[in-house]
Amino acid sequence: MPHECSGICAKRPIQKLKFKPEVLNVKDSYRRLTPKAGASEEKKKLKIAVIFGGRSTEHEVSCVSAFCIINNLDRSKYDISMIGITYDGDWLPYSGPVDLIPKDKWVPLAVKENGFKHVEGRRSLELAVPVLSACDCIFPVLHGLNGEDGTVQGLFELLGIPYVGCGVYASACGMDKTFAKIQFEKAGIPQVEYMIAYKDMAEEKPGYYIDAVNSSFGFPCFVKPANCGSSVGVARADTPEDLGPALAKALKFDNKALIERYVDCKEIECGVLGNEDPSAFTPGEVRSTDKEFYDYDSKYVAGESIVIIPPDVPKFIVKEIQRLAVKAFKAIEGSGLARVDFFVQKDGKILLNEINTMPGFTDCSMYPKLAVSDGMPYGILLDKLIDLAFRKHGSDKRCYDER
Ligand SMILES: Nc1ncnc2c1ncn2[C@@H]1O[C@H](COP(=O)(O)OP(=O)(O)O)[C@@H](O)[C@H]1O
Ligand SMILES: [Mg+2]
Repeated sequence: MPHECSGICAKRPIQKLKFKPEVLNVKDSYRRLTPKAGASEEKKKLKIAVIFGGRSTEHEVSCVSAFCIINNLDRSKYDISMIGITYDGDWLPYSGPVDLIPKDKWVPLAVKENGFKHVEGRRSLELAVPVLSACDCIFPVLHGLNGEDGTVQGLFELLGIPYVGCGVYASACGMDKTFAKIQFEKAGIPQVEYMIAYKDMAEEKPGYYIDAVNSSFGFPCFVKPANCGSSVGVARADTPEDLGPALAKALKFDNKALIERYVDCKEIECGVLGNEDPSAFTPGEVRSTDKEFYDYDSKYVAGESIVIIPPDVPKFIVKEIQRLAVKAFKAIEGSGLARVDFFVQKDGKILLNEINTMPGFTDCSMYPKLAVSDGMPYGILLDKLIDLAFRKHGSDKRCYDER
């Protein structure tokens, strides 16, 4: 069934829960972690810190994702603390209206609330740490650099607090497309032919990559930054003359870029949920209307794309995509969730495009749509993610000395 994007700021109604509560173990997981908790803990709500914004090119998307998540978290189970990160990288606890989070209208209120003054070259992490430390679980609704790349996950590990989503390594590997490619190659997952282009070489010898493309997969090709998302910095180069500008565009955002063979394909995205034994939702197809490819506007502007669940491909392809999505998730040792994106060529060949360890959660985002389409309402999905965060934290045994 096609779904139209209803716009980046459309308010999502709080869903009525259709699932039986006993399928979820949020409270059980919490009790496992707090064995001394007595009967009074029974009624205790979990304190969840939702973090949004950030310094990445996906700051705006993160704010809208957070707005939708906060509106769908069940207030009878959770007390919510909010922390926004400005474009400057300042972490500001925020207790104002949730409606002001999209479009960054929260910032002036948060500045006032904290009596805050930005100091050049410093980040106000110290304001956020006490709030995080007082929480039972952190939900980092952050996309891109310093959010989805293992850096904040490292902070949560150091604080010793359960958090939603992938750990340090999986986040870092999923974020850097060049490292993810190596991991997927090792796992034997089919991918698009590619090469890595470095900024210094692209600037010193502009013809180098033209020759390299001509002697490998040829034109047209696709160019993208190694560490971005939401199609920022992505361009198609139809001819050798287009390659220089496409590389310059991508390398504005990163010091390395990927050049890939252009694939004429359907784009199919698959949501994965779980820890050691993850499962895949029925995937969905994205089609951008009137666009050369699935660019930023197709992803977030109303009416510029449609989502078709299940995708318009034979059933065996759907099954294979689900299998490969789980395989990709395991290949980077993912936990919690990820959205794994595929290209399906006209001849039916499936190619893995990329993995997103904190996919968009906006009104028009694929991941929550896939869950809902498989019968898991948005609010229950959030419960499940929080439960998985506790489970991962509880089972994470590495080499700490337990004396
Ligand atoms: N090799 C390719 N062939 C055809 N289209 C591509 C290729 N790579 C990327 N695209 C198009 O660009 C979009 C964004 O690229 P992607 O690799 O998914 O980066 P991002 O992390 O920004 O989403 C894809 O959804 C697709 O529409
Ligand atoms: Mg993508």
